[in-house]
Amino acid sequence: MLKPDIEKILNKQVSLEGESSALYLSIGSWAESKGFHGVAEFFYSHSEEERAHMLKLIKFINERGGKAEIPAISKPKSGFKDVKEVFNLLLETERENTQRVSEIVHKSLKAGDYTTHNFMQWYVTEQMEEEALAQTVLEKLEMAGDSPGGGFYLFDRDLPGFKASFTPDSADSGN
Ligand code: FEO
Repeated sequence: MLKPDIEKILNKQVSLEGESSALYLSIGSWAESKGFHGVAEFFYSHSEEERAHMLKLIKFINERGGKAEIPAISKPKSGFKDVKEVFNLLLETERENTQRVSEIVHKSLKAGDYTTHNFMQWYVTEQMEEEALAQTVLEKLEMAGDSPGGGFYLFDRDLPGFKASFTPDSADSGN
């Protein structure tokens, strides 16, 4: 059975994942309207991932005898300056998510809730990958330049296939 304070922070995380999903959907739509189809595909797919993170938490809360709260999602930011801004926003949002995940890990351990602590390890790994991917994409964007032509054309075309240069697996194997 979940302790009320753990249930509360998990539900807060449900809300945060939902907000991230809505923000990435908004960015994807903005990119699509600008003709940046690779950027749009990247953010649409990321939005789906965040929704999946939300659902995973909802199921966990309910399975542990808690009650998952389905949050109202506030209207996400829309109307962005350029592609660099949206990837900086991605990195900033993921860093914040990492911070929240760390807090849940810390609190569940302090509360002796080892099941939640164990469950949250998946999110710790996921956040590591997401932050690394955002960082990698920003570096590639820097190299490409963000004017709509030349390097940016290739960046946009190849973006959906980008992988983070760092993953927990590559750290394990020393690659
Ligand atoms: Fe599910 Fe990227 O936070």
